[in-house]
Amino acid sequence: MPRKVDSQFVWMDGKVVAAEDAKISFFSHIIHYGTAVFEGIRCYDGKLGPAVFRLKEHLQRLRRSAKGYFMEYPWTDEQLTAAISDLIKRHKFKECYIRPVVLTGEGFMGVRPRECEINTCIAVWSWGAYLGPEALEKGIRAKITQQRKFMPTALDPTIKASGHYLNSVLATKEAAAGGYQEGILLNAHGRVAEGAGENIFIIKKGTLITNSSEESLLPGITRDSVLQIAEHLKIPTRIQQIPVEDLMSADEAFMTGTAAEVTPISEVNDMQVGEGRRGPLTERLQKSYLSAVRGNLEGFEHWLTKI
Ligand SMILES: Cc1ncc(COP(=O)(O)O)c(C=O)c1O
Repeated sequence: MPRKVDSQFVWMDGKVVAAEDAKISFFSHIIHYGTAVFEGIRCYDGKLGPAVFRLKEHLQRLRRSAKGYFMEYPWTDEQLTAAISDLIKRHKFKECYIRPVVLTGEGFMGVRPRECEINTCIAVWSWGAYLGPEALEKGIRAKITQQRKFMPTALDPTIKASGHYLNSVLATKEAAAGGYQEGILLNAHGRVAEGAGENIFIIKKGTLITNSSEESLLPGITRDSVLQIAEHLKIPTRIQQIPVEDLMSADEAFMTGTAAEVTPISEVNDMQVGEGRRGPLTERLQKSYLSAVRGNLEGFEHWLTKI
């Protein structure tokens, strides 16, 4: 099966190899038990030329995720930054998606990862609008899935681990089977947790509302960026639980994520949200976010690492 991404090289434990040679052993712990942590990062072509958005925060989260599963790796953030920069240049990409993965490799077989290697790999590829080219403007139709988000007492949702995504895989499958573009998972209490790969925001009477990580979600770097931009724009913000009724009766709603950026939600479970299209505050925040990622929002240039 041909690969659907245009990666030509992969950085593996300090070496750059051709994409077709980027292989791991069948006996790697990750294959059997899902033990990897990863990041999703974007490089945008903006005011400074190609630059990576909030790289420092993504690398901090990667390290914290790895620590959460006892997978410490020998690379400093400076070394990983250099590796990412080198990979982007080799591909001659101006804009791309960046996927660092820290995985548990070969060692003893068995659930407890005893004396297993820890491998660090990075790939880059071209990736446009994650939820489709029209989604940013028109919004998406989302489904609240039967699949619930795992409880923080089972797994720590603030860790971005590969195994955690089986939960999201089932939710996206369920949503797609019903003809929806994305799934929204409720937490164990029946309140909104997050999208399969995005955080959720609603707007009510001019206030921007999102939930906290206690509600079973990965606190996104895009979520944090949008909250900071909202403060800059003097849009009132509130962190609070989101019962389903609040999502359904919101004036506006949108999803945030590195891949999805700021994507309006036009419908949930076939019911129109607000006016059923990108609302005015969503549009303002989205435009400001898309300016910030390209270095065009004054005061936020420090979020970029030039390649
Ligand atoms: C489950 C989940 N929640 C939230 C997010 C948003 O995180 P970020 O904005 O850091 O990309 C992602 C994407 O990484 C995700 O997979």
